[in-house]
Amino acid sequence: MRVFLRRFGFSGRLLKAESRKLTGSESLGWLAGTSWPQQLREAPGIVLSDPRQRFCTMPEMETTEKDSELFAPPPEVRGMTNLDRSAFKKTVAVPVLKVKKEIVNRLMRALKRVALQRPGVKRVIEDPADGESRLVLLDPRKVLGHDSFEKAELSVLKQLNVHPQIAEYNLELTYENFKSEEILRAVLPEGQDVTSSFSRVGHIAHLNLRDHQLPFKHLIGQVMIDKNPGITSAVNKINNIDNTYRNFQMEVLSGEENMMAKVRENNYTYEFDFSKVYWNPRLSTEHSRITDLLHPGDVLFDVFAGVGPFAIPAAKKNCTVFANDLNPESHKWLLHNCKLNKVDHKVKIFNLDGKDFLQGPVRAELMQQLEPATERKHAVHIVMNLPARAIEFLSAFRLLLDGRPCSRELLPVVHCYSFSREARPAEDVRRRAAAALGSSLEAASSVHLVRNVAPNKEMLCISFRLPAAVLYRPRAANPENQDDPPVKRRRTDEAFPEGAALS
Ligand SMILES: C[S@@+](CC[C@H](N)C(=O)[O-])C[C@H]1O[C@@H](n2cnc3c(N)ncnc32)[C@H](O)[C@@H]1O
Repeated sequence: MRVFLRRFGFSGRLLKAESRKLTGSESLGWLAGTSWPQQLREAPGIVLSDPRQRFCTMPEMETTEKDSELFAPPPEVRGMTNLDRSAFKKTVAVPVLKVKKEIVNRLMRALKRVALQRPGVKRVIEDPADGESRLVLLDPRKVLGHDSFEKAELSVLKQLNVHPQIAEYNLELTYENFKSEEILRAVLPEGQDVTSSFSRVGHIAHLNLRDHQLPFKHLIGQVMIDKNPGITSAVNKINNIDNTYRNFQMEVLSGEENMMAKVRENNYTYEFDFSKVYWNPRLSTEHSRITDLLHPGDVLFDVFAGVGPFAIPAAKKNCTVFANDLNPESHKWLLHNCKLNKVDHKVKIFNLDGKDFLQGPVRAELMQQLEPATERKHAVHIVMNLPARAIEFLSAFRLLLDGRPCSRELLPVVHCYSFSREARPAEDVRRRAAAALGSSLEAASSVHLVRNVAPNKEMLCISFRLPAAVLYRPRAANPENQDDPPVKRRRTDEAFPEGAALS
């Protein structure tokens, strides 16, 4: 007979406490006189343990590390670079409780805490020796014997007339029963980070592997596909997104080569070739934060529109949208997605450099929209999501418009994105935006922290109303212009309030 507890590693501290508890005859008393059912003792894969032996044979030092080793794949898989799923077979001894099949459902609700949870492992199995019974698989890290049950659990067992008699069952684990992190921890060199997170873009898992993971890249890709339903392709980023169109250079690690992705974001559908355009699922909250600011009838200029995640929700809100992207592939998919989401009649699409877009179509539209004589109630927003460079493009607003300035509340609101590595990122972004505009933004701007991109690198969005002094050409001194509101020009290097917080 195998000694049941020896197989399940528990910490010395816990064992001491349990030992002390069970030296009293009252603790053992309720098991006195019970005998192991013969048919269970003889069932294949099952070894009964003798509760009376447990505490005298248990070694004092068992570590929690061993607890996690229990469900680790076999050590032989260490260093594997070509995935051999058959090498992950392993047998572990788990405690089981034999119960009548009629009470299984009621019992399982009460035993949630201690029931075994493994991917692809049934927690209740047929009893090979008795068609009327079932075996409930328990977590060996939580159940040492009958005394491991909590009061409430014991009470349900009693109500259902189940004797908390634990047997040992040899459970065969295969590749399917391990989690991706357990697999990678077992395969990659010991002590190295195995983080297996990825961005999901439709059927594509987009990984960003570290150098030490590269020798295992194909295996990692395949594990991601195997363990994540719906993922059929795994790619690794092979450059730092510094090319003009912000798309990633990527290598297919495993699975299909097809990079045509279909994604849902905030209830809209987007289709695109992920190898040729920019898409980041981590921006969905930011896309809705901005589009939530818009009201029906507002005008949105999206200078770096990508495949449409600001433009399409805005058009769906009945805004008039002007969307632009320099990448011909983004432009193509932007057109496609506007049709797909049935907003093509509300979005005017351009394939221009951002500066040309601002100085061409945006200028022409603003000249009309901001004409002081027209009665206009709706707002104008300009979104500029090219965080590596958008601030440079702010200079295109300088003296963009001629004529009499519109009233302050009708001036366009700019949402301009930027990265910052500075200790005070909000101040850094405010300072650089002001320098590009040639005007202080003072308190008239708010800076929103979008996300932490890398250690010490933040992505931020500065929002501000374009000052009339920036946007409008000063009008020549002319007695006819004397009714115009004065356009006060400010110095570029004006000081900013200290400690401006992210808002
Ligand atoms: C960071 S992506 C943002 C795309 C989209 N707005 C989003 O939130 O997913 C920046 C986009 O700007 C485009 N782009 C890069 N340089 C540009 C330029 N000079 N003029 C216009 N678009 C540009 C890229 O092709 C890319 O689609």
